[in-house]
Amino acid sequence: IDTVKINADFRLVSKGLPRTMLRDIANVAAGTEVFITGWAHRVRHQSRIAFVVVRDGTGFVQVVFPGAIEAFHRETSLAIRAIVRSEPKAAVELQPAVELHVEEYSIIGNSDGDIENIITEDSSQDKKLDQRHLVIRGTNASSVLKTRHELLRAFREHFWGRDMIEVTPPTLVQTQCEGGSTLFDLMYYGEKAYLTQSSQLYLETCLTSMGDVYCILPSYRAEKSKTRRHLSEFTHVEAEYPNITFEDLLDRIENMIIDVVSIVVRRCGDLIAFVNPQQLKEGCDPKEPSSWKFMPKKPFRRLKYSDAIKFCNEHNILNPETGAAFQFGEDISDQPERAMVALIGECVLMTHFPAEMKSFYMSRDPADKTLTESVDVLMPGVGEIVGGSMRMWNYEELMGAYKKENLDPSTYYWYTEQRKYGSVPHGGFGLGLERLIVWLMNQDSVKDACLFPRYMGRCTP
Ligand code: 4AD
Repeated sequence: IDTVKINADFRLVSKGLPRTMLRDIANVAAGTEVFITGWAHRVRHQSRIAFVVVRDGTGFVQVVFPGAIEAFHRETSLAIRAIVRSEPKAAVELQPAVELHVEEYSIIGNSDGDIENIITEDSSQDKKLDQRHLVIRGTNASSVLKTRHELLRAFREHFWGRDMIEVTPPTLVQTQCEGGSTLFDLMYYGEKAYLTQSSQLYLETCLTSMGDVYCILPSYRAEKSKTRRHLSEFTHVEAEYPNITFEDLLDRIENMIIDVVSIVVRRCGDLIAFVNPQQLKEGCDPKEPSSWKFMPKKPFRRLKYSDAIKFCNEHNILNPETGAAFQFGEDISDQPERAMVALIGECVLMTHFPAEMKSFYMSRDPADKTLTESVDVLMPGVGEIVGGSMRMWNYEELMGAYKKENLDPSTYYWYTEQRKYGSVPHGGFGLGLERLIVWLMNQDSVKDACLFPRYMGRCTP
């Protein structure tokens, strides 16, 4: 075969053929001559032949280099002109049942041999995160990131399908939304400011001009612990609706989760199946939502906070803080929450938390003013992925809430005034994208669901 060594001008190899993207390669007829570019994902050199899996970001394909070629390393970038052959044995992992037989190729950029030793299966989590820029080239990590993209797209499609408007609130703010203990503060031209914990308060200001609104933006929390579900920066999918009831809110959250998961399975169920195969029913089509054991069904199990406390006590789930049975008013933290959902075995809408445990803005349950119209969605294996509530919409009540929380109402004037000029009952929620991914793809940690995760002790690369 002809080799054009180290040449960035891939046209020397393409000979005028348009580039075929690997996502389309399975549909090209056998015998066709194609031109592709990509990176050597896996390399097996033998004396008179080399087998190389090439990756181009859209897919993978097995490429056969007949004849003795000069050995190159993994991650070498290549331009290749080749003939498509059908090859059932090539269909492993995410590769199609196709093999390319090289006619001519060029190395666009060489890859240093040390690539083989930088990280291995056994490297520590920290080492892998230091090398995250290389790890994301892997089949697993790239499948997670591509599914993340499909989730973002599915959320937007879901919201667009309901004529909702996307807004982009500021992430540099001077008010808190979810308590002072997790605020990241900074100096902003000589004034104290924060990185936003949630765009909710800003979404509420949009209801009167734009109706149902949503945003997908980073939120920041100075979490002082390293857990598998806490990040310092996470992607927050938030929505807000005017003139709804608490029941409407629960309904919308449920519909959204089912809709988004179904869309994503139809689009990239194969990627999910590659990473999380044990959730696929035996012999089923990964792109068919009914093939998945995890597919949530309506209605989700509804469980009031008080009943969750009873459930834990009846099932011997103790409060790890006290080592004793849960008392009403105590927070059901990560670990007991996961134990509870594991026993229930399906998605849970946990509602009616006591006011003391929750944020200042949540409206009270009309039937019991010590409780709030609040909801957490809990998923098996992860626990909480959504937090939402109805919001206080009475001016005096909100002023009272600031006082109780020791918040200076003057900094919230723009939020409070919604209650002065045509207030309506309203509510919304926030979903942590990385937690949804941990659940969907059975990942160890939210860190695996980020491009470059940020959590306590890590702000690089
Ligand atoms: O329950 P949270 O704190 O609710 C709010 O922020 C509301 N203001 C949202 C709203 O009503 N618009 O957070 C919502 C979700 C959680 O359920 C969780 O999925 C995610 O945001 N989340 C985190 N994800 C990763 N790391 C963290 N440190 C997170 N904190 C919250």
